[in-house]
Amino acid sequence: MKKQLISTFVFLFLVLCATAFAQESSPSKGLALTPPMGWNTWNKFACNVSEELVKGAADAMVSSGMKDAGYQYIVIDDCWQEKRDDKGNVVPYADRFPNGMKAVADYVHSKGLKFGIYSDAGKKTCGGKPGGLGHEYQDAISYASWGVDYLKYDWCNTVPGQDAKASYKNIREALDSSGRPIVLSICEWGSHEPWLWGEEAGGNLWRTTGDIQDRWAGKKEWAPGICCNNGVLAIVDQNEPLYSHAGPGHWNDPDMLEVGNGGMTTTEYRSHFSLWAIMAAPLMAGNDIRNMTPEIRDILTNKEVIAIDQDALGQQGRRVGKDGDLEVWSKQLQDGSRAVLLLNRGSSQQTVTANWEQIGYPAHLNATVRDLWAHKDLGRSTGKFSAPVESHGVVVVTVRP
Ligand code: GLA
Repeated sequence: MKKQLISTFVFLFLVLCATAFAQESSPSKGLALTPPMGWNTWNKFACNVSEELVKGAADAMVSSGMKDAGYQYIVIDDCWQEKRDDKGNVVPYADRFPNGMKAVADYVHSKGLKFGIYSDAGKKTCGGKPGGLGHEYQDAISYASWGVDYLKYDWCNTVPGQDAKASYKNIREALDSSGRPIVLSICEWGSHEPWLWGEEAGGNLWRTTGDIQDRWAGKKEWAPGICCNNGVLAIVDQNEPLYSHAGPGHWNDPDMLEVGNGGMTTTEYRSHFSLWAIMAAPLMAGNDIRNMTPEIRDILTNKEVIAIDQDALGQQGRRVGKDGDLEVWSKQLQDGSRAVLLLNRGSSQQTVTANWEQIGYPAHLNATVRDLWAHKDLGRSTGKFSAPVESHGVVVVTVRP
């Protein structure tokens, strides 16, 4: 009896060790310790994806200074997949990708960048192309053999009763079994509250909202009763309360950037980018980076604002003060200082004030303030910082004791 008990304990101990070792040695361990940065085809090009476009974007990511500013992933979104062959392997459109996907990935890698692709947990993608359901392990092997580093996995055309957490866990395990470290971007629009289970399922980021639209305010229904496309402010208001779920390796994703797509003013794009940065959001550019104005390039490559997004502490900043249209946001940084964002949602310029207590400092503290868009030190302040903020604009500063 005693012997039996001892061997049961030894067995359980070995199982525990093996599980711990498997988790330790998983290829996806340690991915996305800061929010992923890159470029994705969807917001600007929708289904018009091709080898030529992707290569051009990779070239532009280097020549525009985006790579130097921290952008890494070049991601092909929906519509690259034409069919499955008679063995069930997913096949890209031959006319758009005449050299196959590996050639595209090799080109992206040759620029010192990483390569991402898109599929779907259901039978078909949102664009009606072959989805991943039932082919998870087979697709993971294809992706790994092509050199995929990032997978965005959507939630269209799932079957009734399909469990979201189990589906994403399944694709994570399939990706891991390929042996290649692959970032998993969960794209189920927040409907099953992925912030509650996304990390456990092995996701590195999860969409918290419906699709972003290239506009500042409001929501528009797709069709009567089918909600919603989201402007920047609507997305911000949905993503902000979820701050406690974000951290290194697992991020809330308020969707890709619209900066440079033409629907907002330069001021609004600067605010959009700054709000994503203070929310530690993934920064996936969604414009035509081969052809952007200097103003748009300057927004996307503002290294001081990007440093806020990429801060190693990984805290998602949040709203700490609101007075009508005027808001104060704060994000603690690894060195103990704060990034502070003053937002004016209103239609005319107004002065916004951040008090030290709001950002977690004592009122008597004398701190240095630096403006991250003007790239200017503003001297020392005690107790608070005030600045005029233009309509739909932001002022972003660091406050350092
Ligand atoms: C969904 C996603 C988008 C995009 C499209 C592609 O709407 O949320 O980001 O990937 O599908 O069809």
